[in-house]
Amino acid sequence: MSTLTITNLHVAVDEKPILKGVNLTIRQGEIHALMGPNGSGKSTLAYALAGHPKYEITDGSIEIDGTPINELDPCERARLGLFLAFQYPVVIPGVKVSDFLRHAITNIRNPDRKEGEDSCP
Ligand SMILES: Nc1ncnc2c1ncn2[C@@H]1O[C@H](COP(=O)(O)OP(=O)(O)OP(=O)(O)O)[C@@H](O)[C@H]1O
Ligand SMILES: [Mg+2]
Repeated sequence: MSTLTITNLHVAVDEKPILKGVNLTIRQGEIHALMGPNGSGKSTLAYALAGHPKYEITDGSIEIDGTPINELDPCERARLGLFLAFQYPVVIPGVKVSDFLRHAITNIRNPDRKEGEDSCP
């Protein structure tokens, strides 16, 4: 059972404060829809969770099962199950869905792959 806990999250972009104290707990199996006006910070929260380098966490914490992930690289967060999925996935000619999924599972099952072998840097 995994739990994502966002506590008092403050995020800035180019030193401009965008998120000012977001609190949210999401337990495994729950589905949450984030709603709000344009420019209210929905995408900013998603990018900050995924670890986009432009979105700086200036205060607060993001935890998975009580472990802070603020400092983890995007690929390390993805391995823990936290990543962005595309709303409109791009079709890459020649890449079958089955190959794509097999590649993803192989990487998850072999977390100790060395650099250059499609693992985290
Ligand atoms: N990369 C960026 N550079 C500068 N400002 C940004 C950047 N990303 C977001 N912002 C600013 O942060 C605020 C929140 O934007 P964000 O895109 O997170 O809102 P949103 O809720 O996703 O909006 P929408 O409903 O239009 O998708 C806005 O004022 C926006 O201009
Ligand atoms: Mg948005």
